[in-house]
Amino acid sequence: MKVDVLLGLQWGDEGKGKIVDVLTPKYDIISRFQGGPNAGHTLEFNNIKHVLHTIPSGIFRDDKINLIGNGVVIDPVIFHNEIQGIKELGIDLKNTLFISKKAHLILPTHRIIDAASEAAKGKSKIGSTLKGIGPTYMDKTGRNGLRIGDIETKFEEKYSKLVEKHKEMLSKFYEYEYELEEYEQEWLKGIETIKEFQLIDSENFIDNSLKQDKSILAEGAQGTLLDIDFGSYPFVTSSNTVCAGACTGLGVAPNKIGEVFGIFKAYCTRVGMGPFPTELFDEDGQKLRDNGNEYGSTTGRPRRCGWLDLVSLKYSIMINGVSQLIMMKSDVLDDFDTIKIATAYKVNGKIVDHVPYEMTEDIEPIYTELKGWNKDMTKMSDKSEFPKEYLDYIKFIEENTGVSIKVVSVGPNRQQTIEI
Ligand code: GDP
Ligand code: IMO
Ligand code: MG
Repeated sequence: MKVDVLLGLQWGDEGKGKIVDVLTPKYDIISRFQGGPNAGHTLEFNNIKHVLHTIPSGIFRDDKINLIGNGVVIDPVIFHNEIQGIKELGIDLKNTLFISKKAHLILPTHRIIDAASEAAKGKSKIGSTLKGIGPTYMDKTGRNGLRIGDIETKFEEKYSKLVEKHKEMLSKFYEYEYELEEYEQEWLKGIETIKEFQLIDSENFIDNSLKQDKSILAEGAQGTLLDIDFGSYPFVTSSNTVCAGACTGLGVAPNKIGEVFGIFKAYCTRVGMGPFPTELFDEDGQKLRDNGNEYGSTTGRPRRCGWLDLVSLKYSIMINGVSQLIMMKSDVLDDFDTIKIATAYKVNGKIVDHVPYEMTEDIEPIYTELKGWNKDMTKMSDKSEFPKEYLDYIKFIEENTGVSIKVVSVGPNRQQTIEI
């Protein structure tokens, strides 16, 4: 067996949580491989709407193992709250949620440094979710981080040493007032919650599971255009969100990767700062935001909205080796007479069909206009019901990317998903 990977091809929030939940019945194990509680993955079914931040989106299906891989960073406070929220829905994860000992911990001081760093950047801030993601990955690559496995030995000593270092940094480099004690108490409570779960060497667990013919789905967080190497740097997150991140974030060899599901919205959104070539500032942009309820699942911030961008989509498909496309939220376009798709950029007066080195603000998108379908598609359940203009929209994307769209989503609910 191989590990299938599902990941976002845009700037996050493509609908990964919903589709992982839909695909989970086909798998034995669902695993997160990178990111942390900057993610907000929404699932809707049976009148329940639930947002997950750290825990994989396979937890609402019986008998499935969910794994938090070594590439993930964990905030014990957020983790504790998530576990409590799930418990309230009558689900006990004690025997089905595993955590890699090599996953790194987000300390209370990482959150403070994140906030202090953003405040110091002023207008050029990244628009971070302020969950401490950047500083935690900095400590990981700087070889100072605390890992889940450290909870088991001399933890207090290691924790205090790192906190002292952070305090020194804060006093030297930032003028930032902060309060530590209250969050620290909650954080230590969260550590106790983590101890209740199975802390494992996840790379060996995955290897053994594959040998036993178990099927595994790796769930990405954020999106390809937020990748630390290939995203719109420096307006990115601090982990590899691309398919290769599943190899390093779980300990899976590249030749053990199977299908790569690339998920994208039928238009584009971005939350936080940074370039966005097809962003709309007019009433169409507002209509996308209203129809799509485009407000952040983690921070509640309004998402910036714009037309679908095939230039960056093709780039994301290339980097990830996407084998199947999944198109989300096409219902948001149900009442548009005309829909635009960017097929090239004008950069410094020249037409280009690739993502330039810097995705600067002055890229002008070149659009192709397509006729809208003007039909409520939210109750449709089969391809035979699709309007001609909708099939044309799909065909246009498939012809331009060279990859088939296998699933479309026409609403937030589990049921509003159509295989084609
Ligand atoms: P994720 O981070 O990729 O899991 O996506 P989010 O959960 O942050 O954002 C996606 C939002 O769109 C959530 O509120 C979902 O409930 C919602 N959603 C998912 N699929 C669809 C769809 O096909 N149509 C509509 N209208 N909403 C959707
Ligand atoms: P999901 O998994 C959308 C954005 C932030 C900011 C930048 C860096 O729900 O798709 P960070 O907190 O990581 O340092 O922020 O990345 N960002 C996301 N945007 N969806 C996400 O996750 C995001 N996680 C981070 O808004 O611009
Ligand atoms: Mg999200």
